[in-house]
Amino acid sequence: MKISVIGCGYVGLVSGFCFADSGHKVTCIDNSDKKIELLKDNKVPIYEPGLKELLLKNLENNNLNFELNINENIRDSEIVLIAVGTPTGENGDADLTFVHQCAREISEFISPNTQIIIKSTVPVGTCDEVEDIIKENCVHSEFSVISNPEFLREGNAINDFVNPDRIVIGTNEQTDKKIMINLYKNIITEDKILFTSRRSSELIKYASNSMLAMRIIFINEIADLCEKIGADVTDIAKGIGLDKRIGPHFLEPGPGFGGSCFPKDARALIESGKKYGAPQTLLESVILGNENRKKNISKKILDKLDKQSENEIGILGITFKAETDDIRESPSLIIIPDLQENGMNISAYDPEGEKEASKILKDVNWKKSAYEAAENVDCLVILTDWEEFKNLDLNKLKNSMKRPLIYDFRNIFDPDMMTELGFEYCSIGRG
Ligand code: UDX
Repeated sequence: MKISVIGCGYVGLVSGFCFADSGHKVTCIDNSDKKIELLKDNKVPIYEPGLKELLLKNLENNNLNFELNINENIRDSEIVLIAVGTPTGENGDADLTFVHQCAREISEFISPNTQIIIKSTVPVGTCDEVEDIIKENCVHSEFSVISNPEFLREGNAINDFVNPDRIVIGTNEQTDKKIMINLYKNIITEDKILFTSRRSSELIKYASNSMLAMRIIFINEIADLCEKIGADVTDIAKGIGLDKRIGPHFLEPGPGFGGSCFPKDARALIESGKKYGAPQTLLESVILGNENRKKNISKKILDKLDKQSENEIGILGITFKAETDDIRESPSLIIIPDLQENGMNISAYDPEGEKEASKILKDVNWKKSAYEAAENVDCLVILTDWEEFKNLDLNKLKNSMKRPLIYDFRNIFDPDMMTELGFEYCSIGRG
């Protein structure tokens, strides 16, 4: 099939490259000349494991090409997939400017019988709006708009895309269903597709992300309680996760959730609830609890330090989670300025995050390795669980620190082992 994918962000590029790899002819389109230039130069504008390899392979197969801006070339596409951003708007709701603009622009060019797939995360009713915009602007009315939200996680995006737990497709049309089965036929079997109405499909994405965000804030608050009462959150997560009704995933405590989806989607669902008179009070607490968590992390660190002297702090991990260069809504963006306001000097290392973070965080002494970030510090703070942090030579690390104090907000090390090695080791929710 011939597919145009509009939007070359995480979702657009991963979807486009994976569809190309499954045998379709894909054109990825973006209005950023910088991104398109990089892609045409065989470079991937984001860090996502495996993406570069897929790019090279599918350029060679002739299954991929790139285009600056939407233009008449999309006439050839049987499918136009919209994967543009839906950032948080002024009131917390989703800002649909890019989706609407995209709908207007494609109206001019789509051929009869084109399927328009909305992959961007959009509030309920957006597919209806896109349909109306295209109807107003298109010379024919033989097109359909299908909801197909994406559930991939950054850092594991390709694997998530090609091995999904399920594919959700919102359409009531039989022809659309057949085309969607065909689109995914080399990726998953039909029994993994859940067909729903467009509105249900749109809501599934928000409900899914919000449910996961809720679990994280829950386990974070349980971790706080564990610290007060001397219990171990790892055992609690295991103990509750063994109950099949609960399951083991998304129960790892941390410095608060971030990223481009959880905070944005939970806020958008709260706004939808207000709009339709169905308040989402639980989610309001989730957002508030998460914001408070990020604000309280610096206090936990400061409590361990000698406030009379000047302190040097080394930070390991800036991105919102490991295996990505994405810093959107990352806890580090709250924690580092809080520490600086309290007079701390900050050195930091992140395997991929420095480029973006250095545009936002000021007066940070950027280092080229975890060992460099640990040199002469009074405390080393772990904010992201990059694999390379788990494999550090801990003796080497300790010897370079002024005081062997580690505050680990991802619980990547065993507390007994760390004490034996001579560290003052603090982690979360472990007594
Ligand atoms: C999320 C959803 O998982 C994905 O389905 C959706 O398509 C996009 O949003 P992503 O934001 O890439 O994916 O990352 P995810 O791995 O879900 O982590 C989100 C945040 O939760 C991160 O800040 C992460 O550190 C945090 N987290 C996750 C925890 O603190 N504990 C956990 O147990 C899991």
